[in-house]
Amino acid sequence: MATVKLTNVKKVYGKNVVAVQNFNLEIADKEFIVFVGPSGCGKSTTLRMIAGLEDITDGTVEINGKVVNDLQPKDRNIAMVFQNYALYPHLTVFENMAFALRLLRVPQEMTNESTGKTTYVYSKLSQDEIYKRVTEAAEILGISDLLLRRPRELSGGQRQRVAIGRAMVRDSQVFLMDEPLSNLDAKLRNQMRAEIILLRKKIDTTFIYVTHDQTEAMTLGDRIVIMKDGFIQQVGTPTEVFDMPANLFVAEFIGAPKMNTVPATLVRNGDGYSVEVFGVTLPVEGDKGDQLLQKGVESQSITLGVRPEHMTLTNRNNPYAIPCTLQVNEMMGSELHLHVLAADGTPLIVRVPTVQLTAQQVSSLVAGVRIYVTFQSKVMHFFGSESQLNLLAEQSKEANAASEPQQEQTDEAAKGTASQQWYHN
Ligand SMILES: Nc1ncnc2c1ncn2[C@@H]1O[C@H](COP(=O)(O)OP(=O)(O)O)[C@@H](O)[C@H]1O
Ligand SMILES: [Mg+2]
Repeated sequence: MATVKLTNVKKVYGKNVVAVQNFNLEIADKEFIVFVGPSGCGKSTTLRMIAGLEDITDGTVEINGKVVNDLQPKDRNIAMVFQNYALYPHLTVFENMAFALRLLRVPQEMTNESTGKTTYVYSKLSQDEIYKRVTEAAEILGISDLLLRRPRELSGGQRQRVAIGRAMVRDSQVFLMDEPLSNLDAKLRNQMRAEIILLRKKIDTTFIYVTHDQTEAMTLGDRIVIMKDGFIQQVGTPTEVFDMPANLFVAEFIGAPKMNTVPATLVRNGDGYSVEVFGVTLPVEGDKGDQLLQKGVESQSITLGVRPEHMTLTNRNNPYAIPCTLQVNEMMGSELHLHVLAADGTPLIVRVPTVQLTAQQVSSLVAGVRIYVTFQSKVMHFFGSESQLNLLAEQSKEANAASEPQQEQTDEAAKGTASQQWYHN
């Protein structure tokens, strides 16, 4: 078991490349934490500092309450899987997995009977122990029948499993993975992602997983650490970061296609709020209105965020209809991705489940057609137009937990349904 704690961790390469700074995080025992962010944001650097592969410029890394800044990687009891998992081509799968175990020297405390002094003696693992560990790991990974093959006789996914197995046999207290699936094709990546979820249940240890892929982050992480330019942007469960992104960056990074974000005006009128966007005034009702009021938010220009899946098609008679022109209709199978332009030329994406549409409606959605979209206040996100911070973010946990069950359809905004006529040539 292991907890990991990073306090004010900073990494400067050379004189002035600041790769990571102000990094504060407490990872619970057996937690699966994902570091996610665009390339170059400092994910690998942070992971390598935890592993001991990189010096820590400032701050502390603790494992189980013990500062490990000056410990060698081998003394940190950590396993690591990299994106480029070079296997030894001339060794069998078994020997690839056993390789590090054969080099391992395990300390054992010995007490001198006459003097009472204790010392450590180091011994190799027995052949039996190595056999046991390798076959057990192979069993968990479903590669038992491949143990005598060489890497060239394996598929990409099988090789990846061997690389994970090689790290697993070390019986480490923390498991670090740096983009382990990046080299696999999309289909295999999805499959391996599911396998890592299962694997995690079988090897009960603390995981820190690095990826640039928000889908991986959302599906794997108990909590996600979203990074940008060396700084943590937000730490939270997948639901928290999706429902209450701390700032515009997180809002656009999590979720695909990305959240629509447009300049708008938030208007406070007494205790009520509305949003002016694309020349339409949408009332802000229900929980979102209550939350704005609680925080005493005043009228201001904002960036309004609405996820593509939260926009709905409506008809022109809906007072909250935003007229748009369809540019591209991407047929994704179970849903359509409609790329539209609002009247002022702002591009938006609208995700529409195909089951909601008749065949005739689907075929009518061609480039150039005028369509009307709208959204309810419960799906709106408000960001300060200067600060880019979510105006409601601080109350995220409490607000989400409390509002979930009683979310009623108080909104007028999305009254239009798919059965009504919502397009117009
Ligand atoms: N060995 C190094 N020397 C100098 N700069 C480095 C080194 N390694 C990484 N960097 C820089 O540190 C920043 C963070 O890199 P990295 O942690 O690899 O990002 P990520 O894994 O998120 O893509 C980048 O700007 C990168 O160029
Ligand atoms: Mg990296």
